[in-house]
Amino acid sequence: MTLLRDADLAAAFDLAARSYDTLVAANPGYHAHLRRSARRLGLPDGGHGMRVLDLGCGTGASTAALAAVLPGAEITAVDASAGMLERAAAKPWPDNVTFVRASAEGLARAGVEGPFDAVFAAYLFRNAADPDAVLATVRDLLGPHGRLAVHEYTLSGRAAHRAVWTAVCGGFVLPVATALGDGRLYRHLWRSVVDFDTAGEFAARVRAAGFDHVRVLPLPGWQTGITHTFVARRELLDTAGDR
Ligand SMILES: C[S@@+](CC[C@H](N)C(=O)[O-])C[C@H]1O[C@@H](n2cnc3c(N)ncnc32)[C@H](O)[C@@H]1O
Repeated sequence: MTLLRDADLAAAFDLAARSYDTLVAANPGYHAHLRRSARRLGLPDGGHGMRVLDLGCGTGASTAALAAVLPGAEITAVDASAGMLERAAAKPWPDNVTFVRASAEGLARAGVEGPFDAVFAAYLFRNAADPDAVLATVRDLLGPHGRLAVHEYTLSGRAAHRAVWTAVCGGFVLPVATALGDGRLYRHLWRSVVDFDTAGEFAARVRAAGFDHVRVLPLPGWQTGITHTFVARRELLDTAGDR
């Protein structure tokens, strides 16, 4: 199958927005894992006085994790799908959370400017047409030593983990999503994970984009070997213009 990209993907998320929260609520560990990845940013003092970007915030599940872990941070939450963003913005939020409609590829056009102390991206990179270009944008938006946490479906490379992923999608996610009218998006979900980087490959991609202290951290539950947190820091360059 052809993966959904850009405007087609945003349109599929617009449609799926109405059932997104119901589906993720049925996914054991979904919200707890997002909070764990937010904690893995390791920002001190509840993020007091810091700026954090939630890239691909969807209906706000990742934003809620950031707001819980970093109550002192100013959080800018961005998504390309108007439908997902509308659901997010309709929820109650503290004053330190702001939503902006923009694609990861069009942040500057939408007025989203750095420096940020941290960027969090949950389930975004696998969907980007050019993940390297998005990583380069993120690196440039971060201040010196700014931190990145990517929470993503990235298979370990072991056949057993790939088989669990396909069984979960085939046995539960796809039948339920198809019944709800969102089969196209969730077929994309299944295939996009199978086709995307393994965890090791994505870590190498992050390093190549100008990040150091790159670590790949596991998550528990059925997501073991399937979902990982990647944490990294913006590399400090000795000479301006090296990159
Ligand atoms: C699977 S949802 C995850 C939402 C949220 N981060 C969470 O953890 O529940 C992925 C989100 O990324 C958004 N997205 C995908 N590609 C994007 C892009 N290139 N720029 C901005 N948002 C994008 C989609 O619209 C969707 O809302």
